[in-house]
Amino acid sequence: MMPFIDLAAQQEALRGRLDEAVARVLDHGAYILGPEVFELESTLADMVGRRHCISCASGTDALQMFLMAKGVGPGDRVVVPDFTFVATAEAVRLVGADPVFADVDPITYTLDPLSVAEAWRLEGPDPVGVIAVDLFGHPAPTPTLEAVVADLGAWVLVDAAQSFGAERDGRSSLADGLAATTSFYPAKPLGCYGDGGAIFCDDDELAEVLRSVRVHGEGVNRYDHARVGLTGRLDTIQAAVLLVKLEVFDHEVDLRQEVAARYTELIASDGVATPVVADGCRSVWAQYTIRVDGREAIRQALAEAGVPTAVFYPQPLHRSSAYSSAPVVPDGAPVTERITGRVVSLPMHPHLGETDQVRVVEALRTVLDSS
Ligand SMILES: Cc1ncc(COP(=O)(O)O)c(C=O)c1O
Repeated sequence: MMPFIDLAAQQEALRGRLDEAVARVLDHGAYILGPEVFELESTLADMVGRRHCISCASGTDALQMFLMAKGVGPGDRVVVPDFTFVATAEAVRLVGADPVFADVDPITYTLDPLSVAEAWRLEGPDPVGVIAVDLFGHPAPTPTLEAVVADLGAWVLVDAAQSFGAERDGRSSLADGLAATTSFYPAKPLGCYGDGGAIFCDDDELAEVLRSVRVHGEGVNRYDHARVGLTGRLDTIQAAVLLVKLEVFDHEVDLRQEVAARYTELIASDGVATPVVADGCRSVWAQYTIRVDGREAIRQALAEAGVPTAVFYPQPLHRSSAYSSAPVVPDGAPVTERITGRVVSLPMHPHLGETDQVRVVEALRTVLDSS
């Protein structure tokens, strides 16, 4: 079976530099908030074009820390897509607030602004904010969402866990919204060798509160706790790994464009909907996700041909047991209902070669032709 995501090829290319970087941390011994953490934060903030980067322990912590810093809690509602990884809604529940599920666009799978607006028609409290997810690495329509909710007094947070490196109009998609969060989970476009995440924002006050939340709500001195916080720091060793990975990141993003373009060209078939990137956007292709009928038979045939696939995500989040009591916008989420039964993601990583891609597509064609 070929790998779905090949982290070994990247590690092989970087191994010497990774060993040196980790050894430097072992030598200086500043395992918590060591110099690599601050170097990484300043490098990432520059790359994204934000004043502040606050690194943290995971993409989920990043979402939760933002919500804590904004004082979101019981009785508050936050709009999230019905089609996303559970962490987006989970963070809302972790602070005691309620997610409201809205539908996504059938082409980009990111929040549909018209569906988001419906959340204000629900009975009960108005939402305080919206979490827009750059799903599969494709930017959400964050500027449009901001325009929709600005008069309603709500903020937009970008959940860019899957999209570090994505752009809209030549700017990082993490530069939009009141803030953006990302994840450095190993399989993400920019991944470390454990868990990690970051929050990006421009507001000095928000950044200060986030830094305090990251360390138990630390106040002006270490044992004056200004607020309730977390143990939310990124390990210095993970920051050191990320600094090495950044040396090849731009090149890898270019390779991802080539791999995606090659898939789209090779697949070109009536029976398969290949992904489409919205005008002015650059996806970072965290996943290459197609839509097909008869998904399970196709997955089975691909597996038999040694091609792994994955389904992100098999059901609308509002149908998940833990979220079934949360409200859905009045018109429901028909797009999410439809696509969750048809999406399937193919092997995708920057080092995926043409030979393997041809193998994937030939296996796909064989099963389509026989059905
Ligand atoms: C859309 C989305 N949000 C949040 C997260 C949470 O990130 P982490 O796994 O680093 O907590 C993920 C990652 O899996 C994700 O895909």
